Amino acid sequence: MAPDSISFEETWREKMSNNNSQWTRRDVLQGTAAAAFGSIAGGAEPVLAAATSEESPRSPNRIQRENEKPGTRDWQLNRVRITHGAYRTALIEGYCSRQSVAAGESIDIFVSTSPARKFTIDLYRMGYYGGTGARHMQRLGPFQGTAQPVPEMTALPARLRECQWSPCTTLTIPADWPSGVYLGKLSTISESPSDPYWQSYVIFIVKDHRPADILFQCSDNTWQAYNRWPVNESLYTHPSGAHAPGVSVSFDRPYGMYVQIFQPALSIGSGEFLLWEYPLCYWLEQLGYDVTYGSNADCVDADFMTRARTFISVGHDEYWDLKQYQAAEAAIDSGVTFLWLCGNSVFIVSPFSDSSRGTPRRILTRTGCYGDMREEEHNAYAALFAGLQSGGPDERRIIGARSVVPFNGGGDWTCVNPGHWIFDGTGMQHGESIPGLVGWEHHGDPDLDRPGLEVLAEGSIWSGGTREGRYAATIFPGPRGNLVFNAATIFWAQNLAAPPGHILPWSHGSRPSGPDPRVQRITQNLLQRALRKTATG
Ligand SMILES: [Fe+2]
Repeated sequence: MAPDSISFEETWREKMSNNNSQWTRRDVLQGTAAAAFGSIAGGAEPVLAAATSEESPRSPNRIQRENEKPGTRDWQLNRVRITHGAYRTALIEGYCSRQSVAAGESIDIFVSTSPARKFTIDLYRMGYYGGTGARHMQRLGPFQGTAQPVPEMTALPARLRECQWSPCTTLTIPADWPSGVYLGKLSTISESPSDPYWQSYVIFIVKDHRPADILFQCSDNTWQAYNRWPVNESLYTHPSGAHAPGVSVSFDRPYGMYVQIFQPALSIGSGEFLLWEYPLCYWLEQLGYDVTYGSNADCVDADFMTRARTFISVGHDEYWDLKQYQAAEAAIDSGVTFLWLCGNSVFIVSPFSDSSRGTPRRILTRTGCYGDMREEEHNAYAALFAGLQSGGPDERRIIGARSVVPFNGGGDWTCVNPGHWIFDGTGMQHGESIPGLVGWEHHGDPDLDRPGLEVLAEGSIWSGGTREGRYAATIFPGPRGNLVFNAATIFWAQNLAAPPGHILPWSHGSRPSGPDPRVQRITQNLLQRALRKTATG
């Protein structure tokens, strides 16, 4: 299990020498120093202390410098009203022309207001920022809003709703905006003191292509798969069944309210970012890790992954194009450590296609599932799958475990391998549990035939509170001293941090408890092991 530092370091040096970015070896060392501090801080101290500690005597890395800037809690929505059905606010809603954009590139923002109202867009970069959670980057507008049309559905099986709205603005990303997840807070402007204002979000990712310690992949394919905007049009609401093949969804539409586990304004317009990804983003930036961000669509390109030392899949990462799978496999082979801090990942084969306007990777279509369909899956989910067949390789090859029947539920995360180094400093004993950490979907059926694979935690979940299933957290060595860790739960980041406004999920009669020093320490141990090569190379 011990990493092979020589082969990985040679690969890393080669990448650095071939890269034209401003990345320097000093940056690498700085990022590693922050990681080392994280393991000492226990996840409780702010990052600014790290820059002056003995463990990180150099100047701060770019994430630390960014988080020194003043933050604000004003990124939160204060006034939201659902106006149509259960998921949509027509008062003000919008979307962006791309999932991610690099500095110097442009992105269109589309907004509809009904009734017509002037509105503003306040752009925030999400991070730690002294515990406020975001920095205000720019105000756009005011603009004059009008009602833009809800598109008709295309025919079955695709049943696609794809907006073709007029943009209110085209934003060119300034050169000094760091990679990150950016929320645009849309706010109508009241026409009189008795006219209330209303709000929702748009969301986009600013990416870069520099070598970095950590690539944080947002699970935005899955956000879109579950998005029911405008009426009830997610990948789960096809008349042929909840897992019917051939159904499509478009990124060219607002994100509606999330449909389960959370029902507050936390999700409208922002997909599931604030629910699953944000606690990890907040925590990594608090500790000053050198992190860069991308969308699922960016990760069809292996080079986008291999410029990072560590790739993190976060939260609920169910929908993958086969090109993503192939890129991930290549990245593991080239020495990237994979941390699957998620559940139900790489479950559905969902190829991207272009929008009707020709923009790449704007439509997702469910075509099959990863791995062989087990008999119990055919039996238990016949109605849900309605003809869905295996269409991809076994996801255990890149995760170590897989989605298993029952696919959802909740349970405790129970240590079964206390001597493993991931538990160093936690004091965890065999059989000791972290209550409620597993849910609302998980991984199980570990690939025990794989050389070097170890089960770290395992136990029961209960779907609906009564139907028992099994999960397994695993780790196995990659071919170049890298690691592949599977936390086996969507809820992992819930026990890392509690950013402003965060609400813990509740599902299947079970819930996690929030920040836990054991989960923080395990995550730090993994990152320290994944990143330590540069400190000695
Ligand atoms: Fe799922």
